[in-house]
Amino acid sequence: MKIFSGWRRFAFGLLLIFLVTHLFSVRELNNSKMVESRKQLNKKFDHLVLGPAAGQGMSNRLQCQGSKALNRTHSSNGRLGVDGSIAFVTVFTIYNSSVDKLDDKSSNTIVGNASYNKVDRSMAVLNVFINFIQVAMPQSEVIVLTDPVSDLSVHRHRVSLYPIQGEYSRDKLMLQRIRSYITYLDTRLHKLSQNPRNITHYIFTDSDIAVVDDLGQMFRDHPNFHMALTFRNNKAQPLNSGFIAVRGTPDAILRAKLFLQEVLKIYVSKYINASRMLGDQLALAWVVKSKPHFDASRFAKTVAFSDDIGGTSILFLPCALYNWTPPEGAGQFHGMPLNVKVVHFKGSRKRLMLESWNFYSSTLDTADMLCLILGSGRTKYDF
Ligand SMILES: *[C@@H]1O[C@H](CO)[C@@H](O)[C@H](O)[C@H]1NC(C)=O
Ligand SMILES: *[C@@H]1O[C@H](CO)[C@@H](O)[C@H](O)[C@H]1NC(C)=O
Ligand SMILES: *[C@@H]1O[C@H](CO)[C@@H](O)[C@H](O)[C@H]1NC(C)=O
Ligand SMILES: *[C@@H]1O[C@H](CO)[C@@H](O)[C@H](O)[C@H]1NC(C)=O
Ligand SMILES: *[C@@H]1O[C@H](CO)[C@@H](O)[C@H](O)[C@H]1NC(C)=O
Ligand SMILES: *[C@@H]1O[C@H](CO)[C@@H](O)[C@H](O)[C@H]1NC(C)=O
Repeated sequence: MKIFSGWRRFAFGLLLIFLVTHLFSVRELNNSKMVESRKQLNKKFDHLVLGPAAGQGMSNRLQCQGSKALNRTHSSNGRLGVDGSIAFVTVFTIYNSSVDKLDDKSSNTIVGNASYNKVDRSMAVLNVFINFIQVAMPQSEVIVLTDPVSDLSVHRHRVSLYPIQGEYSRDKLMLQRIRSYITYLDTRLHKLSQNPRNITHYIFTDSDIAVVDDLGQMFRDHPNFHMALTFRNNKAQPLNSGFIAVRGTPDAILRAKLFLQEVLKIYVSKYINASRMLGDQLALAWVVKSKPHFDASRFAKTVAFSDDIGGTSILFLPCALYNWTPPEGAGQFHGMPLNVKVVHFKGSRKRLMLESWNFYSSTLDTADMLCLILGSGRTKYDF
């Protein structure tokens, strides 16, 4: 233990806490429009700012009056279950070795009636991620892939830690994430060979997301895909790596693993010097577009489609539903679809994620909470 903490202090310096979700946040900064207006947008708020909600007047978009929803969302309530259970998998590390000494109360952040230091902030995001999943899909499991030397401890029902040896330094983190996914899928394949009837579908996500609807129907409505990715109308980065679903059958897990191994190979050979946050998404897009005659114009519509990429059957799901982020710059989404399933609190929206949870726990109204998110999501927050 002594050796470990000594080594850790050496390796991580006086105080280094990092959180996977905070790193993800910088990933999409390279949007030229955003760079232009960065100066105006740089102010970060320590309280919610409710702006106009996008998509008003559009019949298939959520209509709001302030944070009051005029439409009921998710009325189908089709909790029909799927064959097999579902597990969410996220990569998350936290190092708190010397925070106690250096922690300065004045740098704490207040959300609602709680005060957070840096480590608390990271943990709060992870906990809210879990809270939302347990409301929307109470039968599902959460698996946290982590660094064996991480200081993470989580004691929650249906949540387990899975340590994977690797390189979790800042600039290797996205690379490590793909490696961890591959390692994890490998262990599942091994387990399945012993007990082939125990099917669990996997959804690999960033931890700064809120699941607001049952995702089981995705596996039921689309029975043939091996893995699913989310796309958007963005030429350079049409695929977001924050949401990757894998069907739990041995064949699908194997195919997903092979696909991710190809992505990893391209990442290392072509994009290792790309901004540390972009490499995985660029590699993902490269592998998909390398299929001869791949029709990339389908990324411009918000309609799901399937394609076979190197033997892996991939379902492409619109970010607008499965990875919804408040519009940045280009404003692709024009409001919020009524049947949105996953909200992604990218970048400096982490306060909004916590405030949304607090709002939901006091109102138990998902539609109203979505109005809060729609109206507040373009603001940058301090959390
Ligand atoms: C950032 O955007 C500029 C202009 O759009 C482009 O030339 C540059 O290659 C981009 N950088 C990365 C790391 O994608
Ligand atoms: C959503 O609410 C608005 C305002 O009440 C209404 O005009 C619209 O038809 C509703 N949309 C749907 C799909 O129910
Ligand atoms: C405020 O704190 C109390 C416990 O001290 C807790 O029960 C309550 O949920 C908190 N409210 C908010 C909005 O966080
Ligand atoms: C640091 O990590 C340990 C587990 O290794 C945990 O018990 C402790 O609460 C953490 N400290 C903080 C400030 O989060
Ligand atoms: C089925 O797999 C899950 C993990 O995917 C495991 O927690 C559970 O114990 C397994 N059940 C059986 C009967 O092996
Ligand atoms: C990345 O950068 C290093 C140092 O600048 C260089 O030696 C290496 O060849 C580059 N790798 C790729 C794949 O471009």
